[in-house]
Amino acid sequence: MLEGKEGRAVQKSMEILAALGEIFGAERLIPVSSVQVAGVSYHNLGDAGLEFLEYLAKDGKVRVKTMLNPAGMDLEKWREMGIPEDFAEKQMKVINAFRNLGITISCTCTPYLAGCSPKRDEHIAWSESSAVCFANSVIGARTNREGGPSALAAAITGRTPFYGLHLDENRRPRITVDVRTAVSGEHEFGALALATGRKTKEKIPLIRGVKKASLEELKSFSASFPTYSGAAMFHMEGITPGRFSAPEEHIEVTRKDLEDAVKFLNDENGIDFVSIGCPHCSIGEIERIARLLKGKKVSRETWITTSRNVKEQADKKGFTQIIESSGAKIVCDTCLAVAPLKGRFRTIATNSAKGCYYGRGSNAFRTRFMSLEECIKEAVGA
Ligand code: F3S
Repeated sequence: MLEGKEGRAVQKSMEILAALGEIFGAERLIPVSSVQVAGVSYHNLGDAGLEFLEYLAKDGKVRVKTMLNPAGMDLEKWREMGIPEDFAEKQMKVINAFRNLGITISCTCTPYLAGCSPKRDEHIAWSESSAVCFANSVIGARTNREGGPSALAAAITGRTPFYGLHLDENRRPRITVDVRTAVSGEHEFGALALATGRKTKEKIPLIRGVKKASLEELKSFSASFPTYSGAAMFHMEGITPGRFSAPEEHIEVTRKDLEDAVKFLNDENGIDFVSIGCPHCSIGEIERIARLLKGKKVSRETWITTSRNVKEQADKKGFTQIIESSGAKIVCDTCLAVAPLKGRFRTIATNSAKGCYYGRGSNAFRTRFMSLEECIKEAVGA
């Protein structure tokens, strides 16, 4: 591959992987069963990124199941989203390059809810931090947090260097966290992730004291934990597969820590945009939203972001019709962080602690952080 016998895209990809392997001291390459590629929004890629993709697509093809992270717009309803024509044209070129590489055009940060769920101990090469954290910590699959180019290289060669979180010794917890308060709801799990991540930084924690957690709560925790810490995985007692003894270094997270996290995520009032679906909504969340919006009208721009796969389920169950009748939009393929929304809205209400971080960073929003139910109340102006 490195000698170019399998084409230029394979050679370039292997150069990237060999360089990475050398930097991190990997002894060999291992096969991966799936890949998730980040760096899909033209907003982040720019022309240089687009050129690189088109270069690879000339003779490259992916060898394993490969999915994409959110793009800069809904690929079908971008006009309704108010996306400028020139941006849409560039974004579609990016998508076409990925399509030519043989990639499934499913732009989501929750591939595990959209037909790509690896098994425990399976080696994968995923990019998006929340999906990486969920895969490592909840499913027990093994992936480093890949950059866009290294993920694409893994997809084109079907391999990744054997280092980092692929190895047992790097997956061990280094610090014990005792949660001394009851936690419930996606937003509280996001606040818990922020409070924990600030204390544990890059150390992988063993978290004890969380009595139960739903898929949606774990999805939220997995998104916010890597955002506010330096680690790409956690262990949660009773959730993460496998057993580990508790590390000696020990900290606690209390109700006061959670309250401080919530305070940190709340700027001043004046909401003009409501966004739920960071990470992309599950069908369960869409059902809850449909129930809350039934027979009501929203008075603020409201986006429910999800994967196309989940949207199809919502269409069949009648949830899309209920939500869209209220004036809220079900937006696929994109999210509040990667869509070019700077200047369009001032203050966003969201139930995602990660959404607050990227809403502030990428689109200069002020943020209000609340539960899904409270977000919907704000949307209808109740
Ligand atoms: Fe997904 Fe965008 Fe949030 S990629 S995790 S919805 S910032």
